[in-house]
Amino acid sequence: MRIILSDSTAEAIQTVALLVIETMESHPSAVIGLATGRTMEPVYAEMVRLKNEKSLNLEKNFFFMLDEYFGLPENHPSSFKHYIEKHFIGPMQIGQSQISVPPVHAKDGAYHYEESIKESGGVDLQLLGIGRNGHVGFNEPGSEKNSRTRLVRLTDETIAANKEQFVDDKIPTEALSMGIGTIMDSKSLLMLATGKSKADTIKYLLNHHDDPSCPATYLKHHPHFTLVLDPEAASKINLKI
Ligand code: GLP
Repeated sequence: MRIILSDSTAEAIQTVALLVIETMESHPSAVIGLATGRTMEPVYAEMVRLKNEKSLNLEKNFFFMLDEYFGLPENHPSSFKHYIEKHFIGPMQIGQSQISVPPVHAKDGAYHYEESIKESGGVDLQLLGIGRNGHVGFNEPGSEKNSRTRLVRLTDETIAANKEQFVDDKIPTEALSMGIGTIMDSKSLLMLATGKSKADTIKYLLNHHDDPSCPATYLKHHPHFTLVLDPEAASKINLKI
């Protein structure tokens, strides 16, 4: 596990955006796993800036989303599909055929999503945020290490944490999420945590292993796991540099 302690939130965001852009620059047909949440919004904005600055052609890249809410009408403004169209697909000028979102409206969606990841050759770089309760994607506490893409029940804490992202009160209680096993199959993992709301979670992550109450702890076994922290998210850890 590699930990990058940044001097500022802006530097942490730039570091993550650059690592993803450099992966696509050096590997034009790289498969990238995308995450959602407030942490990622400035990362995508910085990726758009870098893509334009470098005049990068991303036509051969392919993207998989980590998760999607279950039970929302198609094109609901609070869906993760809508989020990624707004923050990534549109501004990055990515074709609709270059991205796959967990098929919540399809029969056997979880099975087909796993198959499509396999058929793509697998994810080269999986971008990750972390929930305050240590969830990754929507692998909530209690998730198993070898879990695969499946329908998950969201915890009350997660529903409350994501409430502000809903334009109406139709807040789903379930979601389709890549599993921990699915995420661990990626060739490399890149997690970003910013802000003091994540400080306790990061402290727990660094001091525990294979702990189902904090599913992010499973990722520490991955041979290419990079964790980027801003000073606030790192404020409760004591790393000797
Ligand atoms: C959601 C997503 C996660 C994300 C988490 C944290 O629950 N499913 O992938 O990491 O929120 O989001 P935020 O960055 O808004 O704290």
